[in-house]
Amino acid sequence: MRLAVALLIALLGTPATASDIEVLHWWTAGGEARAADVLRQRWQALGHHWVDAAIVGGGGNSAMLVLRSRALNHNPPQAAHLKGVELHEWAKRGFLRNLDDVARRGQWQLRLYPFVSSTLNHQGHFVAVPVGLHRVNWLWINQSLFQRLELNPPRNWEEMIQVARRFKQAGITPLAMGDDPWQLAILFEAIALGEGGSDFFRRAFVNLEPEVLSGTQMQQVLRRFHSLRSFLPANHIGLKWNQASQMLVNGQAAMQLMGDWVKGELTEPGNQAIRCLPAPGTAGKFSYNLDSLALFQQQDAEHDQAQQQFAELLMSADFQQQFNRVKGSIPPLADADLSQFDPCGQASAKALQHATQHGDLVPSMAEGMAIPSNVQQAIFDLLASYFSDPQGDAVATARQLARAVSAVSAEQ
Ligand code: GAL
Repeated sequence: MRLAVALLIALLGTPATASDIEVLHWWTAGGEARAADVLRQRWQALGHHWVDAAIVGGGGNSAMLVLRSRALNHNPPQAAHLKGVELHEWAKRGFLRNLDDVARRGQWQLRLYPFVSSTLNHQGHFVAVPVGLHRVNWLWINQSLFQRLELNPPRNWEEMIQVARRFKQAGITPLAMGDDPWQLAILFEAIALGEGGSDFFRRAFVNLEPEVLSGTQMQQVLRRFHSLRSFLPANHIGLKWNQASQMLVNGQAAMQLMGDWVKGELTEPGNQAIRCLPAPGTAGKFSYNLDSLALFQQQDAEHDQAQQQFAELLMSADFQQQFNRVKGSIPPLADADLSQFDPCGQASAKALQHATQHGDLVPSMAEGMAIPSNVQQAIFDLLASYFSDPQGDAVATARQLARAVSAVSAEQ
């Protein structure tokens, strides 16, 4: 129902005046909304109008549905939160404004990490502006609950299971998580990275090698993933990621496995009770989610001019500082000053550096950085049905994974 209303509003659209920027995004949870507000205020301070097309729903599924229907109705917004491989899918269809002019003037090539540039580059042209770099492989723990039970944070998945059992025995929900396919995929890929390592991760989720997708290592990862279902909250069906974070903050749950947008949900920035740790087995590894805004091609010069200014604002060091500190990410700028960031932000930057040097920087499959959206969807569907089935068969699921991925890839 909510989606139907959002769709209707979105399709009717709002008439835009010359310097309007209508921005479609899904930054609607507490910290996300505050970050979007930083952008809105900065844009308005430059004398422009902001038209908010916020579509509720973590992970962006509903937002992407709205965007698709608006584009089909020749009514796309001027800007949208679009990222990773999907950027290329939109660029291929000719929707996105080429940003080479702004990039040249702003020396993007020099300022951005090389992997950031290549994520945003479609056939040699910049097609989106990067706004934040999230590390996905984080484990958030409620420190007081760990202290109360005299437990150490888990460093690998074996320890994770032991710790989870102890919390469960004590009547505390071990792992706060909902059943959204993308939330499940974040857990699954963290296990894959932690137990299989970066090469396994890349062979499975970037190269999509059938023998790796169906192999014994993948079966083990699937088994581990399945074994965690007994540690979720009783109300995990329909639980949103930010509600899960609230459980952690309130002391109802001990841990959450989620990207660092969680920081925006902690009651106070730098909340002492909640600690960030690398997901088990992934110290020094970094699975990235690059948030970016793409600009949709405009027919008139005035809107085009406004888009240029918008892109310049997004890339300004000042905006990136303020925005990322609220959003929980770090700036994707190689020369960013991180001295004002909280310890998790600084740890993220350190992990990024380490991972880059050691071949441990991987694109998050769950966050759309690694593979085409239809292949990602096929993996999500399989993982969700395997996880929800109490009898889930790891060997059969691994085989189906390889088969589904080749079938969908062949459609490209
Ligand atoms: C991600 C997005 C992040 C974060 C998260 C939860 O897909 O890139 O910025 O907000 O969803 O909604």
